[in-house]
Amino acid sequence: MQIDPSTAAVPAVYQYLVGIVTPRPIAWVTTVSPTGLVNLAPFSFFNAFGANPPIVVFSPTLRRDGTKKDTLLNLEKLGEFVIHASTTAFAEKINLTSKEIPSDESEVTLAGLSTVPSVKVKPPRIVGAPVAMECVVKQIIPCGTGPIAANLVIGEVVMIHIADEVLDGKGGVDPRKLKTVARLGGSFWCHTSDLFEQTRP
Ligand SMILES: Cc1cc2nc3c(=O)[nH]c(=O)nc-3n(C[C@H](O)[C@H](O)[C@H](O)COP(=O)(O)O)c2cc1C
Repeated sequence: MQIDPSTAAVPAVYQYLVGIVTPRPIAWVTTVSPTGLVNLAPFSFFNAFGANPPIVVFSPTLRRDGTKKDTLLNLEKLGEFVIHASTTAFAEKINLTSKEIPSDESEVTLAGLSTVPSVKVKPPRIVGAPVAMECVVKQIIPCGTGPIAANLVIGEVVMIHIADEVLDGKGGVDPRKLKTVARLGGSFWCHTSDLFEQTRP
């Protein structure tokens, strides 16, 4: 089978892409609106791209009707956000916060969560999330104008919060304690419990 994205239907291309590029880590992102409302949503078009300075990228795509998601609108106005690691304990709430709700309502309330102020940015952190990274937007790169078009939000991490209980005691995070979840195609997610180690040659 071959798919030529220049002629295939966009939703089909999307389904193949998210089925192929797996598993994808999930950024659970808080932003704030100009009126101060806290927005919370998951994004699996996400990764880290360097450490000096620490750079993350995620993509709030355009909706299927071509409009911008609240996260993107907030970032265009206030270029600050917080990324939380997505973990097993929060998996159901993370999924719940992907619900499209009116922009004057908060997914934080919807999911029965609470927040704590961040140190360097206006968007707050989610209480209980074991890892949070405060970020400042460096650049937003739109990559199209139609449905599901990418908007690359390039952010610099300016503060990292890590709960002591997920540390490995050797200066790192213990994946057996952090227990991140990730996204595959369709409605599939995965746990990171099937681990193996390989030392670098
Ligand atoms: C696990 C998961 C990952 C998601 N990843 C993305 C993504 O990478 N980009 C995107 O635009 N939407 C993604 N979504 C959908 C958004 O979370 C959803 O459109 C949300 O309502 C956007 O919220 P907002 O309008 O408040 O920004 C994802 C949903 C789930 C459940």
